[in-house]
Amino acid sequence: MKRILVVGAGGQIGTELVPHLQKNYGEDNVIAADLKDEAVQKISQYARCEKLDVLDFNAFGELMKKYDIDAIFNLVALLSATGEKNPELAWKINMGALLNSLTLAKEFNAAIFTPSSIGAFGVNTPHDNTPQDTVMRPDTIYGVCKVTGEMLSDYYHSRFGVDARSVRFPGIISNGALPGGGTTDYAVEVFYDIIKNGRYTCPIPENSYMDMLYMPDALNAVTQLMEADPSKLKHRNSFNITCMSFCPKELFAKIKERVPSAEFSYDVDPVKAAIADSWPNKMDDSCAREEWGWDPKWDIDAMVDDMLKAIAAKLK
Ligand code: SER
Repeated sequence: MKRILVVGAGGQIGTELVPHLQKNYGEDNVIAADLKDEAVQKISQYARCEKLDVLDFNAFGELMKKYDIDAIFNLVALLSATGEKNPELAWKINMGALLNSLTLAKEFNAAIFTPSSIGAFGVNTPHDNTPQDTVMRPDTIYGVCKVTGEMLSDYYHSRFGVDARSVRFPGIISNGALPGGGTTDYAVEVFYDIIKNGRYTCPIPENSYMDMLYMPDALNAVTQLMEADPSKLKHRNSFNITCMSFCPKELFAKIKERVPSAEFSYDVDPVKAAIADSWPNKMDDSCAREEWGWDPKWDIDAMVDDMLKAIAAKLK
């Protein structure tokens, strides 16, 4: 990877992935693109940035040519809860971005990374130690897009030799840009609300377990997988990765240990609750560990300490 294009760069992952890639591959070799003017303006302060609608194939192709791109990071997606409000739009954006990215990766002989998700699983998937290869019948449009995306990416690899790789991200906890429209967002929102107001009302049932990952581990996963020796990869799209699994009650207990005055209540959102219930409690990520050395560093205690510190500094 010498010249990288990150599309959908203004979101939760992109905001931190772009500087991470700059550090590893050189500032000038990372081009960020986003649809929204506001995001383009913000990103332009720290990276080369272009305004791009990824659904505009020609404009996307022009950027590939202009910058001589050999790796695409496709981060464009409507998340699970937003997707349920407008499934047709979710399909159009999520699959449109992927198809254009794969087609251009083929045309320009570029590698491509597109996140998959715990959302690729569904109610019929084994929920504990969810295997790498198992039943994948998701119950959300977001998940349907993720499973289709995994298959399409593997197809482009086997049929056209496109170097497509991916991980199934758990909920990602971070202190940069906020996630938006996801089912796992509560695990980020809680830190802001506790520091700002001292209380948080949670839309997810207190005992609903989901896999989670802290952003520094997520960023390392991306570069580690993309740099992995291809001859060692038995899988490509997409690898289970995880680092912690907890339910709201457990996370809030950890926060309360550190902020004794914090108050928590629940106002369960039935759509989010059903989604959370259909996803794994904890995935088995042994294939990622064996095939490319996945080895996350952050546990729940270290993450909670770091989040409280970082959000407090940010809101000061
Ligand atoms: N964080 C995503 C969501 O909740 C899952 O990949 O939609």
